[in-house]
Amino acid sequence: MEVKIVENYQEMSRLAAILLAAEVIENPHTILGLATGSTPVGLYKELITMYQNGKLDFSDVKTFNLDEYVGLAAEHEQSYHYFMKKNLFEHINMKEENIHIPRGDAADISEEALRYEQEIQKTGKIQLQLLGLGENGHIGFNEPADSFSVQTGEIVLTDSTIEANQRFFERREDVPKTAISIGIGTIMNAEKILLVACGEKKAKAVKSVVEGRVTPHVPGSILQFHPHVTVIADRAATALLKK
Ligand code: F6R
Repeated sequence: MEVKIVENYQEMSRLAAILLAAEVIENPHTILGLATGSTPVGLYKELITMYQNGKLDFSDVKTFNLDEYVGLAAEHEQSYHYFMKKNLFEHINMKEENIHIPRGDAADISEEALRYEQEIQKTGKIQLQLLGLGENGHIGFNEPADSFSVQTGEIVLTDSTIEANQRFFERREDVPKTAISIGIGTIMNAEKILLVACGEKKAKAVKSVVEGRVTPHVPGSILQFHPHVTVIADRAATALLKK
């Protein structure tokens, strides 16, 4: 695992965007795994600027998002469909049919999870998987548990995740209780992984993921077993790492 420590959010966003852009330039048909949340917003802005300056072409790129809240339709303002549209897709030249996000409003969630997993496998290996990190060590919505999830499935969100994500909703009761998330096995199958983290709230999780014991109680710790992981994090998020 290579840890790149940067000064602040802006530097994290710029460096992460450069790595993603390099992937797209090297392989215009690449398959990217994408994340939502506050952390990647800045790096998506950087990618949009590179696209607007004519430096990037997304016309043959395919994307798979990590997760979606169960119960929210694509048009819902807190859905991850909506987030991706507003923060990235409506500003770049991705083809609609190349964008994949699990449907949180599917009638049968287990069937949707299976369909999504099969769709990833059918399309090919995710070449670069972008990840944020939950304060509790989750990646995607794979929450701390007694075992690692393998494939895409429905996840019951922990209180700490509901608490952390409450900021996007009017009331705590409005935060969905479950989500569809790609599995840890699916994430580990990606060719390369890029994890971004910022701020002191992430410091404990970053330490556990980078230096802790590999355990499903800190889902991100499994990344220690992946051969090609880059972590880009600011000073605050890396403050607890051994010097
Ligand atoms: C989002 C996702 C989550 C977030 C994590 C951090 O698609 O899968 O794992 O990356 O909850 O969220 P932020 O960036 O809001 O701190």
